[in-house]
Amino acid sequence: MKKDTRDELIRQAVEIRQRAYAPYSKFLVGAAVRTASGKTFLGCNVENASYGLAVCAERSAVFAAITAGEKQFECMAIATQGGAMPCGACRQVLSEFNPDLPIFIVDVDNPEKIVEGNLWELLPGAFKLDEKEKAKKPKVQSPKSKVKAENED
Ligand code: THU
Repeated sequence: MKKDTRDELIRQAVEIRQRAYAPYSKFLVGAAVRTASGKTFLGCNVENASYGLAVCAERSAVFAAITAGEKQFECMAIATQGGAMPCGACRQVLSEFNPDLPIFIVDVDNPEKIVEGNLWELLPGAFKLDEKEKAKKPKVQSPKSKVKAENED
């Protein structure tokens, strides 16, 4: 990926963070996901007086892309104060579309120092419905039974 493209994605994540609705946690998050068609979709976190209803920035961006008919995700930039990593729920949602998604983490107080990662490092072995389907068939081992077999040796 071109440096300009990456830098622009990061800039957009930083900018959209300002739209976060986070009056309860006061923790603003911005996310920008780039798709294979070269489009970018943005998200910010949206909280609620009923705290558990908060939606993360990463998922907002993913849902915006899906709504627009795009699901080939190339990379994502996430902007917070401190350079937070995406939560487990968002990792699982991102993994649905690209388990190897490159991720750029930006600390808005230190935007020059980008932490580059990959979703597979953050969530190896994400849940997949077809694994569950395989586990139903007696001849195919589920990941759990493989681990058990290795430990038994
Ligand atoms: N949050 C995100 O937007 N993304 C994450 O990956 C973790 C947390 C939001 C949810 C909530 O509005 C605030 O950050 C504090 O948890």
